[in-house]
Amino acid sequence: MVVKIAVLVSGRGSNLQTIINSIEKGYIENAGINVVISNKGDAYALERGKNHGISTVFLDPSRCDNAGYDRKILEVLKQYDIDLLLLAGYFQLLGPEIIEAYRNRILNIHPSLLPSFKGLRAQKQALEYGVKVVGCTVHFVDEGLDSGPIILQSCVPVIQGDTEKTLTARILEQEHIIYPEAVRLFVEGKLKIKGRTVISF
Ligand code: GAR
Repeated sequence: MVVKIAVLVSGRGSNLQTIINSIEKGYIENAGINVVISNKGDAYALERGKNHGISTVFLDPSRCDNAGYDRKILEVLKQYDIDLLLLAGYFQLLGPEIIEAYRNRILNIHPSLLPSFKGLRAQKQALEYGVKVVGCTVHFVDEGLDSGPIILQSCVPVIQGDTEKTLTARILEQEHIIYPEAVRLFVEGKLKIKGRTVISF
């Protein structure tokens, strides 16, 4: 069976690109990205999708309320018969309807070692707090903010003199490793959730 993937994006799309590359290179087998959905019309991620022959959809959030927006996303997911939804730099909360419909089939990448530094500008939050180790997390999405069961994490050191920009770049390198790995594990059916704990085998 080929796992049909949709990717939700808002911006640059470098994580989307690594997933595309991982599928094209055969690192992730038996899966394809069927659609890229953006809440920003000018997201570069849309170009990346088009460059690889993937359908892209811009859904304008200003045209409906939150519940209506979620229903629009769900319509697209149904239209493409999507099995797995990936959030890749998607800066909007998903509503309960989508989370229920895709329970344990939505993954997100976040640039911190969760549960530390949830929400926006995690790298800046970490620098301001003064931590010495940061990182990134791939997790299942539930109703909370960056709160679902953790699949993979990777650590990177904070180096004296780091700025938000240098730290973000160092974390991003690790994001590009663990997100494709988590997707591969999911696609191969190698993830099991027990309470809050994800077991991979
Ligand atoms: C990534 O660093 C991702 O972890 C972060 O946005 C960036 C998107 O980059 N996501 C969040 O902060 C979500 N809370 P990309 O568009 O190049 O993949």
